[in-house]
Amino acid sequence: MDMNRRPRRLRTDGVRSLVRETDLTASDLIAPVFVDATAERRQPIESMPGHERVPVSDAVERVEEIRETGVEAVILFGIPDSKDDRGTRAWAEDGVVQRATRKITAETDAYVITDVCLCEYTEHGHCGVLEDEARSNPRVTVDNDETLDRLADIAVSHARAGADMVAPSGMMDGMVAAIRTGLDGEGFEHVSIMSYAAKYESAFYGPFRDAADGAPAFSDRRHYQMDPANVREASREVELDVRQGADVLMVKPALPYLDIVSQVRREFDHPVAAYNVSGEYAMVHAAAEKGWLELEATAYESLLSIKRAGADLILTYFAEDIANRL
Ligand code: PBG
Repeated sequence: MDMNRRPRRLRTDGVRSLVRETDLTASDLIAPVFVDATAERRQPIESMPGHERVPVSDAVERVEEIRETGVEAVILFGIPDSKDDRGTRAWAEDGVVQRATRKITAETDAYVITDVCLCEYTEHGHCGVLEDEARSNPRVTVDNDETLDRLADIAVSHARAGADMVAPSGMMDGMVAAIRTGLDGEGFEHVSIMSYAAKYESAFYGPFRDAADGAPAFSDRRHYQMDPANVREASREVELDVRQGADVLMVKPALPYLDIVSQVRREFDHPVAAYNVSGEYAMVHAAAEKGWLELEATAYESLLSIKRAGADLILTYFAEDIANRL
């Protein structure tokens, strides 16, 4: 009698798409762009095939290429002209992200999101101001509260340049509140915050750290990014960001953390973003290069799975390729 139930009936070509539960469109995707103040021309990033560091002068052209595929939003990462101990170039009015944002928002209709962090701007590569003994004592690294004002300064400088949304990625306690207060105090109530709310201390960020030159010079990020072993803690982290005024909640990485994506989707009402990170991208490319996986099909299935798990938006290096196919 259970033969009355034949799920295969709904898998034939005509009906398959009618009963699909999830779909993926170009408007779900956000494309990362690396703007490099030290580059004179576009430089390929070896571990991220198809991606480049682009000089500020080519940022508009790069964003237009992305928009031609149907992807309308970009997230900007900056490689500054110089680094120092406190990362002062991160909030400079003539900083690399600030200059690129000004041009992109003046010359295109792209929705511009900026990554708010210090790791690409500090000599030591950590995501904030260091504690005094950080170099000698492995138990300490970034001074949380000293870093908060700097994050607010960075966000305000991005907003002043025209950013539509800021995305703090440093995993400092209280960062969303500090940034919201900073933005509102300067008249940027309309600028939204996408918090890297549950960001794990992951080995999957390797290629990005080459691309953005932001690897820590000593120690690692375990004192501020989350332990990959934890799932309940993600809800506590996300809850704090919601209370502090985050508009969009991000989980990062994506594929190895789909349980977290689905948990955040179930427990919170805000839009959920997932970051399909550099290592997830590099892995598929490497296997495809060996002929072991089919690139486009694997990329598409990855992104579809991230949506199925509950993400509303996806930050991904596959954005252009997949949007072109959709
Ligand atoms: C900066 C930042 C990182 C990523 C996004 N923002 C690196 C890190 O935390 O070490 C990683 C993105 C990727 O791997 O694609 N804090």
